[in-house]
Amino acid sequence: MSSFSGRTAFITGGARGQGRTHALALAERGADIVLVDRCTDSASVAYPLAIRSELDDTAKAVTDLGRRCLAVVADVADRTAMDDAVARAVDEFGRIDIAIANAGVSVAEGLTGLTEAMWNEVIGTNLTGVFNTVAAVAPVMAANGYGRIVTVSSMMGRSAAPGMAAYSASKWGVIGLSKSAALELAGTGVTVNVIAPGNISTPMVHNEPLYKRMRPDLEAPTRDDVAPVFASLHAQPVPFIEPEEVTRVVLFLADELTSHITGTVVPIDAGAAARVSS
Ligand SMILES: NC(=O)c1ccc[n+]([C@@H]2O[C@H](COP(=O)([O-])OP(=O)(O)OC[C@H]3O[C@@H](n4cnc5c(N)ncnc54)[C@H](O)[C@@H]3O)[C@@H](O)[C@H]2O)c1
Repeated sequence: MSSFSGRTAFITGGARGQGRTHALALAERGADIVLVDRCTDSASVAYPLAIRSELDDTAKAVTDLGRRCLAVVADVADRTAMDDAVARAVDEFGRIDIAIANAGVSVAEGLTGLTEAMWNEVIGTNLTGVFNTVAAVAPVMAANGYGRIVTVSSMMGRSAAPGMAAYSASKWGVIGLSKSAALELAGTGVTVNVIAPGNISTPMVHNEPLYKRMRPDLEAPTRDDVAPVFASLHAQPVPFIEPEEVTRVVLFLADELTSHITGTVVPIDAGAAARVSS
């Protein structure tokens, strides 16, 4: 794998979870990092989102590795805020070589309980947020003749499940958006690829409201109680995948030498993709 020395990576949802793991791996390999995170809870999301101290901790971990880090509090659903974040990144580092459109929220709610606010939150963050990120970084990358964009879908971006209408719709949308962007940018030196994770061990999955939804028969389900339900969503008999395994794919797609792979979807889902047609 190439060094990322001299590169700048722009990572949304970078305060914690998979975004943090990607940031630290890229920083370890030489990249300067821009972290964007909302650091505010949403009334439509049942579990807590990142807090400011998590963003600061991730930024410190990057600088402890000897790299520079710009941490921006912004909502990916806000196009003006994303344009400002990209402008600040270019002011600070002069370039953006890698963008990981990773910020996301999950709402598990059946159609009758799915409010307009929930729908708007999920589509706003997961789909419009990816559009805002890609649209804001693409001109900077195209002008430099180089870029590696990785967007984040899900195994739910190629399948469906009860209670997942908004999340699934947003993640299917990410694939259509990213393939279109890959074609538009094909002549510019910028690649656009999608990752589609399965159940990844982060706070999006390990939280009480989701555990209760997975095991409604139990008063206070534990990780062990929900593990068989999560495992049933994968083909390989594992309930959870560590974020570092997702990061390995991000590093591959972000590599300078990965220059002729664009418009693809790479699953990291313990075989769940084998059950669907594309
Ligand atoms: N964990 C899983 O099982 C799983 C599976 C498939 C896909 N994904 C996707 O992976 C990505 C990363 O999720 P994660 O697992 O690290 O979860 P996470 O909840 O730990 O991290 C998500 C981050 O995004 C931030 N965020 C949320 N909404 C935002 C907004 N509007 N603007 C800016 N920041 C915002 C949160 O504060 C948080 O730091 C998401 O797109 C998620 O949908 C996760």
